[in-house]
Amino acid sequence: MTSAEGKLPVAILVPGDFNEHAVSRIDKAFKLVRIERADPGLVTEETRTTVRGIASYAGINAAMIDALPDLEIIASFGVGYDSVDANHAAKRGVMVTNTPDVLTEEVADTAIGLLINTVRELYAAEKWLRDGDWVKKGNYRLSRLTLRGRSVGIFGMGRIGRAVARRLEAFGLPIAYHNRRKVEGLAYDYHATLKGLAEAVDTLICIAPGGASTEKAINAEILSALGSNGVFVNIGRGSAVDEAALAAALKSGTIAAAGLDVFADEPNVPRTLLDAANASLLPHVGSASEHTRRAMADLCVDNLVAWFTERRPLTPVPETINVKAGG
Ligand code: NAP
Ligand code: 8YV
Repeated sequence: MTSAEGKLPVAILVPGDFNEHAVSRIDKAFKLVRIERADPGLVTEETRTTVRGIASYAGINAAMIDALPDLEIIASFGVGYDSVDANHAAKRGVMVTNTPDVLTEEVADTAIGLLINTVRELYAAEKWLRDGDWVKKGNYRLSRLTLRGRSVGIFGMGRIGRAVARRLEAFGLPIAYHNRRKVEGLAYDYHATLKGLAEAVDTLICIAPGGASTEKAINAEILSALGSNGVFVNIGRGSAVDEAALAAALKSGTIAAAGLDVFADEPNVPRTLLDAANASLLPHVGSASEHTRRAMADLCVDNLVAWFTERRPLTPVPETINVKAGG
């Protein structure tokens, strides 16, 4: 049922900064409620008693869920939802949705760009040109590393991992992977442990989710197994990396280079990584084109609309798959 202006009589809370297209669609379809950040201390009595949905790309923790007694759904913007306490949401009967698939190809494109940037030092070569060194000092040096002859290991062979692998097949590179479970029907070599994968390849790409099960999985032991010709690319989550161990490995030559799109404490990047000349660093731009962010925004809002009109989510996360509207 919609009101006279065509809005659903439902209050949706949008904490903090959010995608403009999503905000505009929420404002048209629902009663939009904004607060500065997802902090129970900022929840007014009116917000507490009216909000039934949240749209967010920042984290929603258990305390925030508990601060909203009538909350039914958290529509998280992004495929990774490690910053949402989905287990607590499930206990409280709150649906959590994310935005899978619509960003897969974009993130895979970025991963390949970051890999080549890292291996061929394109970030440093461009700086050489912009700084006037091509004119003053001559050609940029030959890159120490090449993609030729490399073998690639993918940590997290899911939707995006497979899209990365498909691209790398076209580059003529052998591919192996590690997941907790072997993917049936996938022809790439499977390694039951991350260490086994790191020992078998010289190029490791992390596109695994964040959260407790991957916390600091890329540690000194894994980097040492990758070896001195090793290249590490992270487009998954910064929490999956022991950043102090990575910075040390880059400095000592334990591995050759790294390309990082994600960090443990974004937007703060450790000085030791900023200072690493053999690292290419991006500010979490894996999915960040206008095209793809619009598709993510639409899916985020479509989940809210489907929930409040048809009483079903479009893309629920596994933890809340059994949560029912009104149940
Ligand atoms: P997905 O389809 O769910 O794939 C995740 C893969 O990781 C699965 O194959 C899963 O297999 C594996 N995995 C999960 N936990 C693991 C663990 N503890 N040990 C080993 N493997 C594990 O997700 P997706 O759509 O490909 O997205 C993957 C992640 O990419 C997101 O969660 C997000 O963190 C990140 N991401 C980053 C950006 C960016 O802008 N940089 C953009 C989009 C996504 P098993 O369950 O069998 O282990
Ligand atoms: C987004 C991402 O940048 O989808 C994800 O998991 O990491 C990125 O696509 C992020 O979710 C936006 O907050």
